This record gives sequence, C-alpha cells and structure tokens, in this order.
Amino acid sequence: MAMTTNDDLGALEARYMAAIEAAGDVPALEEVRVAALGKKGEVSLKMRDLGAMSPEERKVFGPALNGLKDRLTSAIEAKKSALEADALNAALASERVDITLPAARAPKGSLHPVSQVMEELAVIFADMGFAVAEGPDVEDDFHNFTALNFPADHPARDTHDTFFMEKGEDGTAKLLRTHTSPVQIRTLMNSEPPVRIIAPGRVYRCDWDQTHTPMFHQVEGLVIDKDTHMGHLKGCLIDFIAAFFETDEVEVRFRPHHFPFTEPSAEMDVRYERVGDAVKVGSGDKWLEILGCGMVHPNVIKACGLDPDVYQGFAFGMGVDRLAMLKYGMSDLRPFFEPDPRWLSHYGFSPLLQANLATGLS
Ligand code: PHE
Repeated sequence: MAMTTNDDLGALEARYMAAIEAAGDVPALEEVRVAALGKKGEVSLKMRDLGAMSPEERKVFGPALNGLKDRLTSAIEAKKSALEADALNAALASERVDITLPAARAPKGSLHPVSQVMEELAVIFADMGFAVAEGPDVEDDFHNFTALNFPADHPARDTHDTFFMEKGEDGTAKLLRTHTSPVQIRTLMNSEPPVRIIAPGRVYRCDWDQTHTPMFHQVEGLVIDKDTHMGHLKGCLIDFIAAFFETDEVEVRFRPHHFPFTEPSAEMDVRYERVGDAVKVGSGDKWLEILGCGMVHPNVIKACGLDPDVYQGFAFGMGVDRLAMLKYGMSDLRPFFEPDPRWLSHYGFSPLLQANLATGLS
C-alpha cells in the first residue's frame, strides 16, 4: 500500500481545486467530483486505505482526509452555483425579446367572414352618408316590439321565437332582441332628423338548423328626413347590392310584404345564378331574397316623439351571415359559430387588408 503523506494530500488538493476552478460547465464539474469524491474517486480510495493504517497514522490522516473532502465538497458546491447562475444569465441574455421589433412572420389569425362583411357594409354605407349606430343585445318589449308597432297579440312576441329573461321586480321581462330594428327606435328617440344610420349587430331567435342559429347577425338601415320617398329606398338598395357583390349588373324586384313597422313593406329579391357554392348576381333565371324593407310606419315615428306629417323615411334589414354565405360560398351556417381554426383559416380574411371601395372590398 502506498504511504500517504501530507505532501501527497497537499498536491492532490491543489490539483482538484485547480480542476474545479477550470470546469467550464456543470457536466465538466460533475466529472471532477466523481474523479475525486465518487465511489472510486481518488479521495474516497484514500479514505478506504485508512482501515489498513496503524492507529497513529489514522489519527493524523483521518482528520486530514475528512478536511480535504469537506473543502473539495464546498468548493464544488460553490462552483456549481456560480456555473448555474452564469448559464441562467446567458439564457436570459440570449432569449431576450425586443417587443419593439417588427414581426418576423406574417401575423396568424384572420377576420371572421361575419366581421369582414360587417366591415364591407360599413364601408359601402359610409360612402352613401350613413353613420353606424348600436343598441343593446338585451332589450325590452317597448323597443323590440311595442314602439315598432307590433300589436299586443302579434305572434312574433311568442316565446317560440323570442328568448325572454325572467320577470323582474316591475313584472316585465327583458328579452334578447330578435332583430336590429329596436336600434331604429333608440336612434330616433335620441337624435334630431335628418337621420341616416346602419345598425349591425347580434340578434337572437329560438331556431337551430343548417341555415338558422339561435344567434345570428343583422344590419338595419334607417333614413328619416322631410322628403324621403320610396324612390330613395330603391336607389339606395340597388346601389348597395351593386357595391356589395362588386358588379354593375343588378336586377332587383320588390315583392309586397308585411312588417308592422313599415308601410308599405317589401322584400327585395336579386336575380342570380349559382357558380359553385357562391352566387353570381345579375344574370341567371333565379331570384334570391336578400332583405326586408319599407317606408317607416307613421306609428313608429309617432312613438319616437316625432310628427309623421313632417318626417318620413325608409328602413331595411338583412341577415349578415346570409350575405356572407352568398358572397363567399358557404352552405352551412353552423360552422360560423364553432370556433374551428381550420374553417377560419380557409374562410377568414387578412386583418391587414381592410375593406375599401378604392381597391376592392375583399
Ligand atoms: N326587422 C325585420 C326582420 O328582422 C327586417 C326589416 C327591417 C324589415 C327594417 C323592414 C324594415 O325580419
């Protein structure tokens, strides 16, 4: 057995201290630890030799070896902490994000077709001098029905169409608006004519199949002035169809209809043919129902505190989702409201390309 001397231990300690100091990373440091203090490490083997020593030798070398082991252990610990701190700082420095830099990749995400069509509608009608108005989704009977000249027993008030809330303390029930027409009332009660607004938004009816969802979107239009007549209504809506379907060939027909809040009332159809899933407006032998419209009923004007002998005008309302389906060729409404990113990336629109009349709507 090799004699262990204090000189040997001093050299050994110096060698390992230098190796610890030189270790460049945690795995290298671990190699040094194993070489010195592992099961078969140099220091461990020397400790095993203690058993073969005389009691006198052991008294000297036992404490010396233990001291050596302790010093190496704490040197390794200290070095390890320092290496880990260095690694963390390096990672923090290299992974630093400069949020002021421009995006490296095109942004993900796209505009929902409903949002896109609403943008297009706002652009088209803004060009004709319409402002955008809004009203609440949770309405009351007065704005949704009564002021719009619905008779008390009108079937549209029936719970089969309308989602009613529970009755409040005053005995009346709020409801989810079934159309955007209550915005006509809110606008007329809060502004002086002339009024020219569109009101896009969510509406709710208890219905669910391929072309009906309990929540869908409408856009309302309202024009009130002193000498507005049905010719204005027709011209405005024909111009709208031409702009929306991006064509000069538009042929429409107005079919007599009934709405409580307009008189006379009509539904407007557009001549079309199908090209794939989308519709081509202007040619073909089929008629597509696009919207409801009419001259605002004198009772509505009266309910809003205006004199129907002075003011009159027209209103129209149409389904935004349906417009999107027609223009962009979707046959099923339900996926509109199932947030599936594959559907959205297929049918969605770039958020960076805003609809405008100069370079095209879509
Ligand atoms: N509010 C009607 C509907 O939901 C549409 C409409 C609006 C008709 C304005 C005429 C005038 O069907």
